[in-house]
Amino acid sequence: MLLGKGNKKMIVNALMTCMLIAAGCGRSTETDKLQTSGPKWWQQTVAYEIYVKSFMDSDGDGTGDLNGITSKLDHLKELGVGAVWLTPCYVSPQADNGYDIADYYNIDPAYGTMDDMERLIEEARKRDIRIVMDLVFNHTSIENEWFKESRSGKDNDKSDWYIWKDPKPDGSAPTNWRSIFGGSAWEYDETRGQYYLHTFLPEQPDLNWENPEVRKALQDIAKFWIDKGVGGFRMDAITYIKKPDYADGRPDAADGLTGIHAMTANTDGILDYLHEFKSEVQEGTDIFTVGEANGVAPSDLKYWTGKDGVFDMVFEFGLVNIDLPDESNWCERREWKLGEFRSFFSENLEVSDETGGWFPAFLENHDQPRSIDHFMPGEGDRIAKGKALATLLLTMKGTPFIMQGEELGYINVDWPSIDDYNDISTRNHYSFALEEGYTEEEAMDGVHHFARDSARTPMQWDASANAGFTKGEPWLPVYPDYQVFNRAEEKKDPDSVLNYYISLSGLRREHSELREGDYEDIMPDSDSIFAYTRTQGDKKATILINFTDSEARYDADLIKDSECLITSCGDTSPGILAPFEAVVYGQK
Ligand code: GLC
Repeated sequence: MLLGKGNKKMIVNALMTCMLIAAGCGRSTETDKLQTSGPKWWQQTVAYEIYVKSFMDSDGDGTGDLNGITSKLDHLKELGVGAVWLTPCYVSPQADNGYDIADYYNIDPAYGTMDDMERLIEEARKRDIRIVMDLVFNHTSIENEWFKESRSGKDNDKSDWYIWKDPKPDGSAPTNWRSIFGGSAWEYDETRGQYYLHTFLPEQPDLNWENPEVRKALQDIAKFWIDKGVGGFRMDAITYIKKPDYADGRPDAADGLTGIHAMTANTDGILDYLHEFKSEVQEGTDIFTVGEANGVAPSDLKYWTGKDGVFDMVFEFGLVNIDLPDESNWCERREWKLGEFRSFFSENLEVSDETGGWFPAFLENHDQPRSIDHFMPGEGDRIAKGKALATLLLTMKGTPFIMQGEELGYINVDWPSIDDYNDISTRNHYSFALEEGYTEEEAMDGVHHFARDSARTPMQWDASANAGFTKGEPWLPVYPDYQVFNRAEEKKDPDSVLNYYISLSGLRREHSELREGDYEDIMPDSDSIFAYTRTQGDKKATILINFTDSEARYDADLIKDSECLITSCGDTSPGILAPFEAVVYGQK
């Protein structure tokens, strides 16, 4: 029999899986079977994002590390987590906290060694947890050997691996594009006498995906990690990999530049590269992919996810940008209505239903504010808000992604000075605001709302010094509320956000309708209550969440013949929700 390329790959993968199982790699046979029908393992589980630098420090250097993560796997197990997305832990000079990769094949010494990684993958597998790597493929670090060679002259093996362009006749940058982190997106290099493009920092030069050798090198990296036993990939900044014509855009701010996002995100031809990646890397494996899809409008999602799409799931940005019309300007927030918030879910779910795709439910990640402050700003009890949002996350159709700390009810940091903030993008946003004429107070207000540091403070494990995160000096200050909001204390308190997460996750495991059931918005006109059903055959769950700090009423007929499965307030009355109350009813 002649074997096609895809078949061969499938057989090789299946053989490799068997060999690994036989070698006692701690893999569970259940998740290793290549499934042909029914829900996939990653559709049935809960995912969790770890900001590696801030999760747990095992060696007292103030920085989280892989052994720290291994020591805390039971926390994740208890939360019902089956997939753990690690932010990049490869060798990196850390200009953007690891999103600038110098060597994709090795672990940064600050985080441990490859042995530590293999142990983490294996220990996680013993608990039915798969590790998901963050593939940063739009750009590398300037310290990457590829870039070093590329910048050494115009005539070397890698000279075309990055995006090099001649200056304009007057010596200025090839286009007037502003990088996402501020300033020109072009950096001049003396040796080549040319500019290179960087969508993000100058320390993050963009790779040239037009070059098939680059694409092959990136595919090889992904295959290397699949062979290590990881369960999936989060594809970083992936909407920027295909550049259109290099033309100036209309200036959108006083600096005379135009945001690169508007010029290069999701441009024609990008999907060809991603289809190639999918067929070369993913086919015949049981891994999943989730793309960071900033710039993909809901109308385009059908090309990105679903049976004919390029990724299993995509993080669409409609929700996290609900209050931010222009991502580069943190000083111009807008008011939003609950209807818009709901639409994000309806639109995404509609596309995934139509295309056979799958939705990654998320309210936070390491680039976003904490959801309590983001989506339930203003007055009200933060614990009630944390539980209300947890209800949404864990009863939504799709795979829920919890950001570390979200399960403890974290809120934003509000450090007084810009010097207190570590994140380069936060500091650049602040400077941009001042350049655009905003006052220092306005610029800091933007920082307090959107700083990425809020999602990155160390994990609060207990009430001991530095919240039990490190025995050394933490790289970023621990949030001062750690004496109360920490894992150990919350575990003891039956009313804590943490215990509520654990219960909800258990409920999701018990009720297949919460994982697989159809979603229907049942109060589409309400400005205060987000209510929906999840229906599977004769099983139905009804979820009602009050987004306001006042009592809200609904028609009790919506929950006729139902019983309360869980409520965030301990007690609930049919037809009425207390401020920020959330409740899940199940059919009797
Ligand atoms: C993504 C990451 C972000 C990073 C950027 C550049 O948006 O989530 O943290 O700074 O890409 O890699």
